[in-house]
Amino acid sequence: MTTDRQKNMAALDRQRHIYVNGMAGLRPVVPFDFQSLETAARQRISKEGFAYMAGGAGQESTLQTNRRAFDQWQIVPRMLRDVSHRDTSIQLFGQSLPTPLLTCPIGVLEMAHPEADLGVAKATAGLGIPMIFSNQASVPMEDCAAVMGQSPRWFQLYWSKSNELVQSLVSRAEQCGCTAVVVTLDTTMLGWRTRDLNLAYLPFLRGMGIAQYLSDPVFLSMLAQMQAASAARPKITLTTLRNLITVVNKYPGRGFFKKLRSGKPMAAVRLFIDIYSRPSLTWEDLSFLRKNTRLPILLKGILHPEDAQKAVAYGVDGIIVSNHGGRQVDGAIGAFTALPSVVAATQGQIPVLLDSGVRTGADVFKALALGAKAVCIGRPYAYGLAVAGQAGVAAVLQNFMADFELTMGLAGCTTIANITPETLVKSE
Ligand code: FNR
Repeated sequence: MTTDRQKNMAALDRQRHIYVNGMAGLRPVVPFDFQSLETAARQRISKEGFAYMAGGAGQESTLQTNRRAFDQWQIVPRMLRDVSHRDTSIQLFGQSLPTPLLTCPIGVLEMAHPEADLGVAKATAGLGIPMIFSNQASVPMEDCAAVMGQSPRWFQLYWSKSNELVQSLVSRAEQCGCTAVVVTLDTTMLGWRTRDLNLAYLPFLRGMGIAQYLSDPVFLSMLAQMQAASAARPKITLTTLRNLITVVNKYPGRGFFKKLRSGKPMAAVRLFIDIYSRPSLTWEDLSFLRKNTRLPILLKGILHPEDAQKAVAYGVDGIIVSNHGGRQVDGAIGAFTALPSVVAATQGQIPVLLDSGVRTGADVFKALALGAKAVCIGRPYAYGLAVAGQAGVAAVLQNFMADFELTMGLAGCTTIANITPETLVKSE
């Protein structure tokens, strides 16, 4: 049990711990600044894996826009306010959280580290930070939930062409203790991701990032029907052999040749490609989800105030302002730039969260100041995973917590409620 004193002093304790370890020649688990963290991750993963994680759409201008959006606002610290006790806790959908942070859903984490989603699940559970399970995870949600105890978790959904599959995924999420469903709206089609295109590399075609499907009864029964309809086996050539081996190895079950002969692994990839997204999705479709889950529903990818108003009107429970980390629309508005108008449009009726470009405790502070209820951390934790597995994720998140707590105190705030728009100015 954490005492109040330990909780309040967490940031200073962490800082001291790092410096004292340094006296003994011990190096920190992960670098502290984002550039060095990204470089360290790059050194540990394949070039395809790094391209997939780091890349954005087109010229990657949205990646820069996301950063510039934060740089346009500055914190104006206030003095002599007794900041010896700092409370970073928040309430979100009836749950008490130690810090206003969650982890973004990030797919195909097996490209970062073999621990993949399990490393993230254990690290977040150790800190009480909600993990948002990705629809494109490398590990089934049930396996992650099994190592998390009571720690909070949400599920992120990509709305597939099959409502039956949607229903199945959401009910599995409910079964394994998820307390919210996040529907990602901005990826009805994959963006024009130049780094991946340059390498002609898409992990899903190699059977990666489809663990939620391969563990789903509805998906597997669709697969069985599909196989009955066409008994065609993949043609094996030298050029496809290596990829085929990867795909077969990713498919659950034993017996490489048995799986290969069955044709199921390749058929599963084909089926996934056929059904994973529904570009025809409209606001009216949301009622299906509303009818099929008792969990709060959040929409991820909202950037326009009118869409925020619609979200409220359609009975949605929350919004995540996001441009998918610049991976979808090159030249899109910075997520942080979009935040104030989305917050204004919702008129406090539902919580608004933010991701895309969050790299420091100061970014978290600024997002909260302009009305975000909480902030989701993306690439930084994935890079932490690449560098040191579970320990790397934990270190990145602890660094965010400490950095944010210190920023808050040094700015003159002792509670989240103190972090108001008046703590910021916008540069001309
Ligand atoms: C993502 N993101 C994402 N979002 C989602 O809803 N489902 C997913 O499976 C994924 N997968 C994914 C993979 C990788 C490698 C990245 C970098 C991102 C988007 C993610 O949830 C979040 O919106 C962004 O990561 C936020 O931007 P930053 O902070 O990472 O730049």
